[in-house]
Amino acid sequence: MASRRIYVEGVKKTLFGIGSVEELGERLRRLGMEKVLLVMDSELGKGPLRERISKILEGSSIRYGLYLEVSPEPSPWVADKGAEMGRDLQVQGVVGVGGGSTLDVAKAIAVLVTNGGKAEDYIGLDLVPNPGIPSVMVPTTAGTGSEATFTAVFTMREQKKKGGINSPYLYPELAILDPELTLELPPYITAFTGMDALVHAIESYTSKAAHFLSRPISWEAIQIIGQNLRGAVYNGKDIHARSSMLKGSYLAGLGLAMAGVGLVHAMAYPLGALYDIPHGVANGVILPYVLEYNYPAKVAEYAEISWSLGTEAEGEREAASLLPERCFELLQDVGMPPSLKELGIPREDLPKMAEIAMGVTRPIQNNPRPVDTEAILRIYENAFEG
Ligand SMILES: [Fe+2]
Repeated sequence: MASRRIYVEGVKKTLFGIGSVEELGERLRRLGMEKVLLVMDSELGKGPLRERISKILEGSSIRYGLYLEVSPEPSPWVADKGAEMGRDLQVQGVVGVGGGSTLDVAKAIAVLVTNGGKAEDYIGLDLVPNPGIPSVMVPTTAGTGSEATFTAVFTMREQKKKGGINSPYLYPELAILDPELTLELPPYITAFTGMDALVHAIESYTSKAAHFLSRPISWEAIQIIGQNLRGAVYNGKDIHARSSMLKGSYLAGLGLAMAGVGLVHAMAYPLGALYDIPHGVANGVILPYVLEYNYPAKVAEYAEISWSLGTEAEGEREAASLLPERCFELLQDVGMPPSLKELGIPREDLPKMAEIAMGVTRPIQNNPRPVDTEAILRIYENAFEG
């Protein structure tokens, strides 16, 4: 599609390196901030990382309010309450330190402080009218790539729905990627957050919206994550594996911000909304079966990915058809659940899940192979038994 126009924006500044979090205070100063809202989850908020961040901020005479109410797969009110605190304290910026949920909440708070209203009002595409205050993201997991994206995902538990605020005003001002902060992550969380990153990389690489800028970035992410996920899970103290995974998830986030995700994400959403399955677990369990469905539409790309993940078959078609198996092996190797049955999903809910997944419009539109509710139901059925 030579005539398609490509417009790209994103996270403005990125700092990567072991120990780079030590520059946080100084970087905030350079951004003109003297008072910020520090957003963390309640677990990290009790631990040594909070003390360390406090010292770093105090070292640069940055005053801060502490907001610790983030929990996994957050509800929109969590951002509303944080924004209220940010407004009361008249902060000039928001700093998110934590996993994807924390970063999403921090990004949403930054736009709510200036725009008013509630997070739920802005769920959708381009509904945020004005820029927020600047946000700074410090990820402690290598997964969502939230530090590089314009999305903040929330779970509406009463309506059993997930949805995201998607707005260019959500792009962070600065991402600080310090691999040391991921060294303590337990193997299981390393595994499922890493699988989320791999799915971002594969889905953005093969998305209908992929383009000349996004493709090389997504490709690099696939390579890095494919080569380092097992190492990070089984050798959590290996700083090289951790550094690589943090680079990989960041690149995958850049790819996803540019080209979107696909059917795996659409089908993972109901698992999170209805059963609170962590996002990366949901993506992982669905991935092989979506690849099986999609591969006739993307034979050349799937073959490239399959070879890069270790497939030895020479023919392109055969290599492409073996990609689901490569991904299933990876899931097994890192200890992820092999089927929806294992996750305790009731079989009779699959049709309802298929209806919901079909309504996740953008990922469905980006998917390389057209899909309908019936096809989705068949894929869920395949994933049920594993
Ligand atoms: Fe994701």
